[in-house]
Amino acid sequence: MTGLHRKDRNMIIDTHAHYDDGQFDADRDELLSRMQEAGIGLIVNAGSTTDSWNRIRELTERYPFVYGAIGVHPDETGALDEEQFSRMGQMLDMEKIVAVGEIGLDYYWDKENHDMQKKWFIRQLELARSKEMPVIIHSREAAADTMDIMREHAAGMRAVIHCYSYSAEMAREYVKMGYYIGIGGVVTFKNARKLKEVVQEIPLDSIVLETDCPYLAPEPYRGKRNSSLYLPRVAEKIAELKGVSVEEVTAQTERNARDLYGLAG
Ligand code: NI
Repeated sequence: MTGLHRKDRNMIIDTHAHYDDGQFDADRDELLSRMQEAGIGLIVNAGSTTDSWNRIRELTERYPFVYGAIGVHPDETGALDEEQFSRMGQMLDMEKIVAVGEIGLDYYWDKENHDMQKKWFIRQLELARSKEMPVIIHSREAAADTMDIMREHAAGMRAVIHCYSYSAEMAREYVKMGYYIGIGGVVTFKNARKLKEVVQEIPLDSIVLETDCPYLAPEPYRGKRNSSLYLPRVAEKIAELKGVSVEEVTAQTERNARDLYGLAG
């Protein structure tokens, strides 16, 4: 039975989704039941609010191909306290929870509470280190502070800079630090010149695919509700930008995602 563990085809891994979001309430089951057939092999559902954690655990229990991350998004850190933080530590020990996230800094929406964001970003990084878990980083209009904190508190850790929105130069810096760069629907947008340059400049073995669904649907679905079913559009765009086959993009990003989250394959 040598074929028992052989993989018949490459699968797409969505390294960042939010199926716990209310936008999926009406058809979550129906939608997720179509994933495997469409070649979406694994999905990692990222945590955003403290309220999202139980919903994420339920999703990982219900669907064999859904894994979870537990964390608090920078905009939501106002809801964090020591009690929630210790609850977070317990939930990270559960089966199928593979990362801490999403965590980071967001100065676009939140112009005031930078110190609070930094404090909880660092606390969550340290929690991930203590549990030897990878981290999912959200960073928006906070390039310098994020880089400083990653250098100081996340050296040697596994990490993905999710929904990457900064320069190619900074992406190369993150790649040098051993981190992955999360690429999603934005790369298909006409005006995403900077992100296209990022994809061309960094090696394919540093890229992971992600949706951030229900947000950021790729062309031609821009503005609509996103789902992992649209990820092939992102893989195709990356293949085009790098001048390689879609199969190569799918195979390499699958390996990258498995390495990032420690998923056997
Ligand atoms: Ni997200």
